[in-house]
Amino acid sequence: MTLEELEQLTATALSELSEASSLEGLEDVRVRYLGKKGKLPEIMVSLKEAPKEEKPAWGQAANRFKQSLSEAHSSRKEDLLASSTPADALDVSLPGNHGPLGANHPIRQIMHRVIEICDRMGFTVATGPDVETVFTNFDALNTPADHPSRDEQDTFYLSDGSLLRTHTSPIQIRYMQQHEPPVRIIAPGRAYRRDTPDATHSANFHQVEGLYVDRNVSMADLKSDLTFFAGEVLGKGAKVRFRPHFFPFTEPSVEVDFTCHVCKGKGCRVCKNSGWIEIAGAGMVDPAVFNAVGYDPEKVTGYAFGMGLERIAMILLEIDDIRRLYENDARFLRQFA
Ligand code: PHE
Repeated sequence: MTLEELEQLTATALSELSEASSLEGLEDVRVRYLGKKGKLPEIMVSLKEAPKEEKPAWGQAANRFKQSLSEAHSSRKEDLLASSTPADALDVSLPGNHGPLGANHPIRQIMHRVIEICDRMGFTVATGPDVETVFTNFDALNTPADHPSRDEQDTFYLSDGSLLRTHTSPIQIRYMQQHEPPVRIIAPGRAYRRDTPDATHSANFHQVEGLYVDRNVSMADLKSDLTFFAGEVLGKGAKVRFRPHFFPFTEPSVEVDFTCHVCKGKGCRVCKNSGWIEIAGAGMVDPAVFNAVGYDPEKVTGYAFGMGLERIAMILLEIDDIRRLYENDARFLRQFA
């Protein structure tokens, strides 16, 4: 190759580059001139073999070839990319854009934990609808017609006479209507009450219902199962305490306290110095409930409990206001991801 030929070649290559009409075409030209098997290696050989006095001129010409071609190549490439359709511009070899990953909400996390523990204790999960009937939410649960919880002040009624369930207890009814004893279920879900929201109340909260029906189920079973459960949730050594209470659907009825997990029972601000935190309502299933679902109260007994998931979440995660659980402030939620 002579110097003139090289200058000629440079000019041809430049015009081919500037005329390339597609990215593929442009790449062909680049490979043909600058690629490993293109013209460039040939030029380098000619440069090496050039007589001494021509070397500087050859060196400059070879450099100009490389530089002007690669400059022309990139500027043409930019033009082509800018004017190409989006489909052409898409580079499928680029790594994708990953958005931030979500995580389970704290309530969901606690619910999964409760289910996992109860699963090991032999409970299966049952579910029911959020919109319930007066029968399953109240009547079948032995709740008298004049009970205050039925009041429109306390319950969300729908225009067709159905209601938003005020607790997860109607799932007990639905399950027993469809299954013969023995029964050992938990039922997690939302519940609705016309409460004015404050730091510890929400009109929509979550419960986990428990129901165990068999021959000879006793209060001792309730206490030992809940004690095991408390130990699994709060750590070994956690205790439970029963305080007498009243629920229409259990007799006797109790309110269940767990050892305060913050002070381990010594007394602190969280448990208002009592060493205990109220977690659940519970009791022995009232015979009237068995009658309502067609079980024979002479043959079977059972215990039931209902615990508030928000309570457990607030205690375990040290959340001071229930409303934080519903505001969906990512800065808050991220702490529990
Ligand atoms: N349903 C009751 C409530 O919401 C809790 C409960 C469930 C009590 C089962 C006893 C037995 O307060």
